[in-house]
Amino acid sequence: MATSEATGAPAPTAQSEGPDVPLLELRTISKSFGAVQALRGVDLSLDSGQVTALVGDNGAGKSVLIKTIAGIHAPDGGDILWKGGPVHIRSPKAAAALGIETVYQDLALCDNLDIVQNMFLGREVTRHGLLAEEDMELSARQTLTDLSVTTVRSIRQPVVSLSGGQRQAVAVARAVMWNSELVIMDEPTAALGVAQTAMVLALVRRLADRGLAVMMVSHNLNDVFAVADRIVVLRLGRMVAAGPASDFDPQTVVDYMTTGRSDRAPHPTDPGAVTTEGRAEGGEDD
Ligand SMILES: Nc1ncnc2c1ncn2[C@@H]1O[C@H](COP(=O)(O)OP(=O)(O)O)[C@@H](O)[C@H]1O
Ligand SMILES: [Mg+2]
Repeated sequence: MATSEATGAPAPTAQSEGPDVPLLELRTISKSFGAVQALRGVDLSLDSGQVTALVGDNGAGKSVLIKTIAGIHAPDGGDILWKGGPVHIRSPKAAAALGIETVYQDLALCDNLDIVQNMFLGREVTRHGLLAEEDMELSARQTLTDLSVTTVRSIRQPVVSLSGGQRQAVAVARAVMWNSELVIMDEPTAALGVAQTAMVLALVRRLADRGLAVMMVSHNLNDVFAVADRIVVLRLGRMVAAGPASDFDPQTVVDYMTTGRSDRAPHPTDPGAVTTEGRAEGGEDD
């Protein structure tokens, strides 16, 4: 599949698939809930080593799209390809087995448990039937160090004692500890102040620099332009624009979010991008 977008060097952890095969590709994905068409023929591709910002107004379908990738919703139609091969992601467990981890907005951390317990929640390591506390501590500490999360006092402190940014970091660390290749984050900075937002955005950047694909849902266009390599815009269940972040400015993004089009900017040139009202023009090079 040819892309018109120069994607730069291949990600360091890229596997043996061809250089042009996206890590994840959605083709004409649709999903309805009764009369509500939440997703309408959505095309999307995500590459390793890149942060893709998913933006759109309330009700655009962002969460449904994430949950479709995460194995929570089964699409009604369309195809999902992982490293070029068709997959059916039937559960969050199946997503995790592929290497897809999702950090939801509420983070789903257990306040009364410590950092190690949270990072291994539901995936505890045991040895001779006992919890392998030292092994888990070691991996938890290593993961946090790898991610340059250095501000936590002790990995044995309960997460209730952490700041919002630290909690987000723990949730991200939990997601990347399992050989994940795609990390999806829903509004990672929504509840954070300025300094903590900067910390989390730096963390998002590091994940991509380590070769992971990152998809970040965000309402905050400052965050989007600070960290995203690519921007994709959903409106009323349709992908109305997709392209390199440098093809957009904040006003263009708002135009696409609110009207589905923009007269201001050069149209994003991604294959599969929809640059006019209506449906995708055939999607990828088929
Ligand atoms: N489980 C569900 N049942 C019925 N309708 C849903 C469900 N989830 C989402 N929707 C509808 O799908 C549309 C897209 O929702 P959502 O993906 O949550 O939007 P966003 O995250 O972009 O704000 C909305 O109209 C919403 O009401
Ligand atoms: Mg949502």
